[in-house]
Amino acid sequence: DWTDANIISEQVELIRKQVGDAKVICGLSGGVDSAVAAALVQRAIGDQLSCVFVDHGLLRSGEAEQVEQDFVAATGVSLTIVDARGQFLDALAGVTDPELKRKIIGREFIRSFEQAERELVEAEKSGPGYRFLVQGTLYPDVVESGGGTGTANIKSHHNVGGLPDDLQFELIEPLRTLFKDEVRRVGLELGLPEEIVWRQPFPGPGLGIRIVGAVDADRLDVLRRADAIARAELSAAGLDRDIWQCPVVLLADVRSVGVQGDGRTYGHPIVLRPVSSEDAMTADWTRVPYEVLEKISTRITNEVREVNRVVLDVTSKPPGTIEWE
Ligand code: XMP
Repeated sequence: DWTDANIISEQVELIRKQVGDAKVICGLSGGVDSAVAAALVQRAIGDQLSCVFVDHGLLRSGEAEQVEQDFVAATGVSLTIVDARGQFLDALAGVTDPELKRKIIGREFIRSFEQAERELVEAEKSGPGYRFLVQGTLYPDVVESGGGTGTANIKSHHNVGGLPDDLQFELIEPLRTLFKDEVRRVGLELGLPEEIVWRQPFPGPGLGIRIVGAVDADRLDVLRRADAIARAELSAAGLDRDIWQCPVVLLADVRSVGVQGDGRTYGHPIVLRPVSSEDAMTADWTRVPYEVLEKISTRITNEVREVNRVVLDVTSKPPGTIEWE
């Protein structure tokens, strides 16, 4: 498509002009935005770019591996992986407030990222450090965070890779004028694999904001198993492209009575939140066929012992946001 090719050549030109021969660093989140932004910058300046992936332990099943293997294979990008799972769990212990979770996750991310950057500079011994940082900011992020429009900040959208004001980098935001569908087309044009390009949006704070209640390793494990089942069944039903995203939410502080096997249980509900949307600014709940819902419900309650109830969220946005937190 000539339009997408134009976006790419225009951005490549702009990035080269902005960067010169300076070094650039990029935080990968596992999502399509940072992947496409990184691939675009890689196209422009090649090995002047280094990528860092902070594994915060809040990703879904298989996602860290996808960054570590598939993205690197597709782009040849130089990648440093930081295992910060324990550090994030410690920092989040006992925290239930959604905005506080985001703040902590944002703060820990910066900490890990800066540490990784220092080690990279150290390892290279000579030469200047990183002057620029790549951000996968999209147009709707700019609008919804109040940038340029003066609207109130509804949720602080710390994309993982998001930064405080006092950081030393200058920003490169090659996707700042694009909507999600354009980003996907650009990604395909850049040769990224379909599994990455067609990935549904996933919030930077990850499963940390899909556990209503405090985050801990056991709860993450329950949610990860339920989420993997929901994703597998929605994919098997061919619904991936009809659904914008489907948060699977663990109501960790709610318990209800159930009967599983031959005993009474007192377990947790899982919420399915499939939504259809163009840009996440508004959304409708997706009319997923009953047979698919039934399959998901049956499998989750059979296979995830801690969950005895699966409920469907039928709220549009507005008034509900897509995520529960
Ligand atoms: P809401 O819940 O505000 O979500 O309707 C709109 C879109 O943004 C994603 N989202 C986030 N993304 N950091 C992110 O990077 C966040 O803190 C965050 N909160 C929500 C959400 O998944 C949806 O695509």
